Amino acid sequence: MLYDPSKTFEENVVNGPFDLPDPTRLPLQGDSLQDEAQFMFLGFPINFPFGIAAGSLPTSRHTNAAFELGYDVVVYKTQRAHDFPCNPYPNVLPLQVAGDLTLEKLKEPLVVTADYTSDLSKLNITNSFGVPSPDPAVWTADLPAALAGAGKGQLLIMSVVGTIREGYGPEEYYDDFATAARLAKLAGAKAVEINLSCPNVASEGVICYNHDAVVEICKRTKAVLGNTPLIIKIGYFTPDQQNTLEEIVRDITPYVAAISAINTLQGSICE
Ligand SMILES: Cc1cc2nc3c(=O)[nH]c(=O)nc-3n(C[C@H](O)[C@H](O)[C@H](O)COP(=O)(O)O)c2cc1C
Repeated sequence: MLYDPSKTFEENVVNGPFDLPDPTRLPLQGDSLQDEAQFMFLGFPINFPFGIAAGSLPTSRHTNAAFELGYDVVVYKTQRAHDFPCNPYPNVLPLQVAGDLTLEKLKEPLVVTADYTSDLSKLNITNSFGVPSPDPAVWTADLPAALAGAGKGQLLIMSVVGTIREGYGPEEYYDDFATAARLAKLAGAKAVEINLSCPNVASEGVICYNHDAVVEICKRTKAVLGNTPLIIKIGYFTPDQQNTLEEIVRDITPYVAAISAINTLQGSICE
């Protein structure tokens, strides 16, 4: 298991992954099957454009295991330029949702189930970590091992986020995205994703709906990244927010190589 939700985040970081399947049994062993990569993404050759989004892979042991299992685009869990605590356990819970999750269903609290169903096609989960991060000295020291774990036709993306600290106003907050991205680049990241869409951090909120903030963050982050591709991770835009989305996309085009969507829908839960 790449991430075990029954264990604390700390246990997963220190001891994970757990009881992994034999990689040879999985069909997505890209680079051993093909001589030439079939796809290009952000200028990098990719065996197969299927991977794991930011979140469940908090160290190079996890990202390397994902590469060995055959996932070819793997995102290291979002890290910060400052250490930051994890929300209290539990951080992942199974939910009961009939059919697709909709904004209508989210008007009422979603009901937590006692167990995880073994039928993964029926599994729904919610998560709340708050984007924990160790001191950047820790993740920047680990990043080279994660980059080295990418085989032929595989790409490791580093995800980072800005932090609002005591005394920070908008300017310092925007700059903090660039600081975190710079740390990632200096540690060797080949592509950097900035998380503009995490809803679990009370003081930071979901910044991706603020046009001016997004454009400013992208501009400052791209200035430190230079040729390194910048990806932004956004949340769900409702039909009412269509114009904002279009204006954001228009104005970040000079800075951004790709948009990762969507992060999540925010809701409340009950037992
Ligand atoms: C356990 C868990 C942790 C996550 N942590 C992060 C994170 O640290 N940074 C981030 O940008 N997205 C995070 N996400 C969001 C995922 O990257 C992804 O956008 C979301 O799960 C929707 O994609 P899916 O429908 O394929 O699951 C997390 C998701 C889950 C389930």
